[in-house]
Amino acid sequence: MAQSLGVGAVEPRKVHSPISIGSCIVRNRLYRAPVLEGAGDGPDAPSVYADAFRENARSGVGLIIQGNSCVTEEGRSSPGMTLVNTRERTLRLAKVADAVHLHGARIFMQIGHAGIYSMEAWHDAFATRRDGPVLAVSTPPIHVKAALRGISVKVLSTDDVRELATAFGRTSGWAREAGYDGVQIASSNAKLIHQFLSAFYNRRNDEFGGSLRNRARILELIATEVRLHAGEDFPLTVKIPMGEDAPPMSPKTSFDEGLELCRLAESFGYHAITPVGLSVFPHASLCRGADPTDILEVTSIRKRFEEALGGSRIKMAVLRWGYRSAAKRYPFQPVWNRPFFSAAKQVVSIPVFAVGGIRTSEEIEGILAAGEADMVGMGRPFYAEPDVASQILSGSEQPTLCESSNRCLPPQQLGMKARCYNPNVARKKRELAR
Ligand SMILES: Cc1cc2nc3c(=O)[nH]c(=O)nc-3n(C[C@H](O)[C@H](O)[C@H](O)COP(=O)(O)O)c2cc1C
Repeated sequence: MAQSLGVGAVEPRKVHSPISIGSCIVRNRLYRAPVLEGAGDGPDAPSVYADAFRENARSGVGLIIQGNSCVTEEGRSSPGMTLVNTRERTLRLAKVADAVHLHGARIFMQIGHAGIYSMEAWHDAFATRRDGPVLAVSTPPIHVKAALRGISVKVLSTDDVRELATAFGRTSGWAREAGYDGVQIASSNAKLIHQFLSAFYNRRNDEFGGSLRNRARILELIATEVRLHAGEDFPLTVKIPMGEDAPPMSPKTSFDEGLELCRLAESFGYHAITPVGLSVFPHASLCRGADPTDILEVTSIRKRFEEALGGSRIKMAVLRWGYRSAAKRYPFQPVWNRPFFSAAKQVVSIPVFAVGGIRTSEEIEGILAAGEADMVGMGRPFYAEPDVASQILSGSEQPTLCESSNRCLPPQQLGMKARCYNPNVARKKRELAR
């Protein structure tokens, strides 16, 4: 892959060049995209993260973006998700940052809130323990009301929105104190901040609704709060939903609006953006791949789902349909976000992060050499091969083992440990080890 410059000279591979994300210098252009660890919120959560990330860092990855942690107790998107709603809870994670730094990598904490998709509320076992409402940008669509089965919904008042932005700022301050190098706002996959940005969900008539500029005001407010609590120079990044898919005739964010969101994020002071194409629903549009329903035949997993869904056959059928239809509509495509990140690169001067179906050293070098993005990430391949960075950084032509089977998704929705659940990958690893 290295290009010849003449006798004995080779052009250095771009993936090895350091980059500044705001005040943070990252040693190379490869990052681990945020994928959950299923670390939970118990006393061992910091060790679960540290054990997972240590190997990634040791094998050379430049930056790890830790999967979503929640800034308030009621907003967890999967059961038992890590909470960063208090200083004490956030500082516990100092051990994670230390483990990553020891091996020369950097780590950003992704922070978010799931709003109406606080999936804990959708799980019978958790819903019965829940005493508060789920939070919404506007009155939720009918499918959400049906799924919430009577759990109350609170549409955020203007003051509540300000308080929410403060929660993001506070957590960012604690993340810095814990040694994290930056934060990323979880603003895709139909999470609460995405719900603000999206015309599909946001029908507010205050300063946070209506025009794109108003819908984006939440990002502006969060940036202000992060600067206040974590300092002007603390790296702040955000995922930008672009090119939303929505049911026919529904309002949605257009490609041009997505580009405008990128420009706005830069003007609000964000230090980097990750543009992604997705649907307005929280499903596999964000992680294109195969239909993982066969994992529901694994007795332990099926039983957990039956428990979560209160034994309802209809809900089980809806779940299967959801996986199947998402896989059909969003099959795997190499580098599927290229149209989004390469276009974003044309309109901002802050670093642009690429993610989505990137699997080979060649693809990574191609994206960087063409100037289509500044950092290139992979998510699921880090589950399949925690040391995948060494292979990528060495320029190996060997394919990464992840098959994008999406068998990692259902366990994650149950709050189980995140890892590769594809037996083919395990078999290939055994063969390679022989
Ligand atoms: C199991 C799983 C968990 C994920 N968790 C998050 C998350 O916490 N935050 C986020 O922004 N994206 C999350 N993603 C999306 C990934 O960051 C990434 O964008 C997606 O998997 C596509 O990249 P890949 O093809 O390299 O896996 C998740 C994806 C999967 C499969």
